[in-house]
Amino acid sequence: MPLLIKNCRILVKEKIFQKNILVKNGKISKITNMEPKADRIIDAKSNLVLPGLIDCHVHFREPGLTHKEDFLTGSMAAAKGGITTILDMPNTIPPTTTLDALEEKRKLAAKSVVNYGFNFGGTLDNLSDIKKAKNIAAVKLYLDNTTGDLKLNDFEIVAEILRISKLTIVHAEDINIKNVIGIMIKNKIKNMLHVAHVSSAKELEYAKSNKLRNQVSAEVCPHHLFMNEKDLQALGAFAEMKPSLKAEHDQKALWNGIKEGAVDMIASDHAPHLKEEKEKAEYPFGVPGVETMLPLLLDAFSSNIITIQTIQKLCCENPAKIFRIKNKGFIKEGYDADLVIADLGKRQAVRNEDLLTKCKWSPFEGKILKGWPVTTIVNGNVVYGNGEVFGVKAKEVQYGR
Ligand code: DOR
Ligand code: ZN
Repeated sequence: MPLLIKNCRILVKEKIFQKNILVKNGKISKITNMEPKADRIIDAKSNLVLPGLIDCHVHFREPGLTHKEDFLTGSMAAAKGGITTILDMPNTIPPTTTLDALEEKRKLAAKSVVNYGFNFGGTLDNLSDIKKAKNIAAVKLYLDNTTGDLKLNDFEIVAEILRISKLTIVHAEDINIKNVIGIMIKNKIKNMLHVAHVSSAKELEYAKSNKLRNQVSAEVCPHHLFMNEKDLQALGAFAEMKPSLKAEHDQKALWNGIKEGAVDMIASDHAPHLKEEKEKAEYPFGVPGVETMLPLLLDAFSSNIITIQTIQKLCCENPAKIFRIKNKGFIKEGYDADLVIADLGKRQAVRNEDLLTKCKWSPFEGKILKGWPVTTIVNGNVVYGNGEVFGVKAKEVQYGR
């Protein structure tokens, strides 16, 4: 059943061209100026079409915390936000730190409507499971406190994991970023390190100004780009996450890092918690983000703060490259038909009642944004369109290593 997506504005070698995209068997079969025959036609109406976003940092909370989110609600929210692939984090209950927990999560994720992959958690005593774990995106190490119980204090073990894992993601804050890179240098480790949610000028410098530049990638999150510590006054716990919001000059440094190429990736760190939980004295850290990441970035494009080329690079191409995700991240013949059609002129407020995340709130509630995803296609199936999500099951991603 070929599908033709007509009148797509896509980037071809960094320039925008209008093309038609023919999809066959879930893959992009032709990018053309012609109008090949198809059973179904979608008219993109000269809207921008990007490769579906790959969000390498989400907490979909399943198993164990499904009152906050699960793979269905989280993935529906992602689809609405133009994200077609997510990589889930291991701080669930039980944590994804054993082969059994990984297999259990794999089964639970089968209901996801966007493609998915798993980050495996590193602990003091799971080296043998890390070695045996099949088809994982990366190993995640927590060097600072956050939701869950995965913090590692033993730097010998950290070194051991960095040595055996081809790609390690660290939740490291401030000086710990420097420390973990120091361990890589001291032990002459040649594997890759991905620094999650870089939040300040200093953290970006620690991550990228060292001799391992080519081995270290830096991720930033929308909340650190579009908010700063001043927002805590109005939002309180609803703007509390780890790492925390920083000063305005830090926020500027992250944008500058995007402009200068020091930032490699943008990921949501979608970390939903219920309103009732956030209202408690001992509230948990984290904010939801999959539905607002692309609209915030498109709005920033409207204000000349970021280019479409950079959005595509940091949200689609680089995640595919860094995580070596097969056949994704690019609009190319032979690649998976994971696409998002975005209306750059659409102005709409972020409204809690519109959100599909189970937690039903956003720190950006009330903000009017220009530029919204209107149709999301996963493996050649429309999973989001006309404000509705269609429950087509997606697939686990594969990695080229
Ligand atoms: O704020 C955060 N929330 N930071 C994290 O690292 C974890 C996340 C969560 O799982 O709630
Ligand atoms: Zn996180």
